[in-house]
Amino acid sequence: MSQPFTLPALPFDENALAPTISAQTVGLHHGKHHAAYFNMLNTLSEGTEFADMALEDVVTGSFGNAEMQKIFNNAGQAWNHILYWNQMQPGGADAPSGELASKINDAFGGLDSFKEQFTAAAVGVFGSGWCWLVEENGGLTIMGTPNAENPLAHGKHALLGIDVWEHAYYLDYQNLRADYVKAVLDNLINWDFVADRLSLR
Ligand SMILES: [Fe+2]
Repeated sequence: MSQPFTLPALPFDENALAPTISAQTVGLHHGKHHAAYFNMLNTLSEGTEFADMALEDVVTGSFGNAEMQKIFNNAGQAWNHILYWNQMQPGGADAPSGELASKINDAFGGLDSFKEQFTAAAVGVFGSGWCWLVEENGGLTIMGTPNAENPLAHGKHALLGIDVWEHAYYLDYQNLRADYVKAVLDNLINWDFVADRLSLR
């Protein structure tokens, strides 16, 4: 069986995000959950129009079609977690600067206010899903999505995405989703990576 979609290696050691996210959580999240989405995507897409597509095109091409829901779910989660890992920096950068900082000020009234609004939105995602910082019409917005959905599927551009499925935080924070989101925003985000995505549209 061909395996066209390949799980990228973690860009850091499994223990690199501790204590904010434990090595156990990172190991399971990447090695089991993220890997499983790729495995399932390869199984589901084999012999279909999606087999040779770029992952982004599978996400946008399968979204909104009930018959393709399983492919979308797995492609979406495969894509979502690549951004999730890549935006993380052990001992993350202090704060946004330059254009990103000014856009955050314009949209949210400053970094602290952004973190509060983002955390509230993340807590407001019912059940499993994601919370995103999105660049839209030259400004920034916060977007919550259910399950595997993401801004890409909705024709929008994600700068940052926090996984709020329980597998992302339950071992470390139990039911305290807000504490997990706030800790990631405070301690792990590579704001230079986020800023670089401003020009990636
Ligand atoms: Fe996840």
